[in-house]
Amino acid sequence: MSDYPAELYAPLHTGTPGDVDFYQRVCAGAGSVLELGCGHGRVLFELLTAVHPSPEDQQALVGLDCHDGLLALARERHAALPPEQAALVSLVAGDMRSFSLGRRFDRVIIPHSSLFCLLSDEDVLACLACVRRHLRPGGMLVLDAYCAAAFHNECEPEDLSDDELVLVGRVTTEDGRDFSVLERSVWRREEQFILSTYVYRQGPEDSGIEACIPQRYLLMHQLESLLNSAGFVVHAASGGFAGEATDDEAEQLVVSAVIGGGTAENASV
Ligand SMILES: C[S@@+](CC[C@H](N)C(=O)[O-])C[C@H]1O[C@@H](n2cnc3c(N)ncnc32)[C@H](O)[C@@H]1O
Repeated sequence: MSDYPAELYAPLHTGTPGDVDFYQRVCAGAGSVLELGCGHGRVLFELLTAVHPSPEDQQALVGLDCHDGLLALARERHAALPPEQAALVSLVAGDMRSFSLGRRFDRVIIPHSSLFCLLSDEDVLACLACVRRHLRPGGMLVLDAYCAAAFHNECEPEDLSDDELVLVGRVTTEDGRDFSVLERSVWRREEQFILSTYVYRQGPEDSGIEACIPQRYLLMHQLESLLNSAGFVVHAASGGFAGEATDDEAEQLVVSAVIGGGTAENASV
């Protein structure tokens, strides 16, 4: 999704209801939090009041992303913070599959299906290995993603037309442009791959601006298996931010994990 213009991405992809409250709860009292795939900081900046940094945690909140445009938006928000809050935040350009920040965190979070931006098991395992190296003893990885079980199990790719455009929203950009946003998706079930294309149109005659998000979804048992392979054990799993069941009807995969043999300290999930 590196070509997705940030000013079009941010007003459309506004998260899942309840996710910010959930991450505030998960990070309450933590000394330090690393968010992987922080984008424009939608979740990260909401954690400013949740963390309780110790004197050695100078920058308690670190956000890492590989999208220059989204990071630039995050930097604008960072620059607008009062100095005492700005001092708590650091934004890093990097790849969640290969990063080395030289410090450890109480929480590593991967909100809003960012893990599904990694398109192979190898990439997910590389990311989890990095997470492991960046967690403090007693620390916890927490992530959420959409649950694909229902359509993966019940639909056939031919049920979805590759070229059918569906209206998914209307957005106004910061500079005042109004767009209708339509989406079409290509789904390759065997690969669990979805290419979502968003078409932003300013009027009926407008051919529009297209932006894509390639993604590979994981089912709960696959996610758990990859976590185990990377040396994590699942601490808690639910099908939503309010502790819903993890059955095929679930809308989300909400998972927290600790390094094998460890227990999460001060964790409210
Ligand atoms: C679905 S968005 C979620 C953004 C943000 N966490 C939120 O909740 O609004 C996925 C984010 O992951 C980032 N991303 C995708 N692949 C990445 C990678 N390999 N390394 C770092 N960031 C990545 C994208 O640039 C994007 O900002």
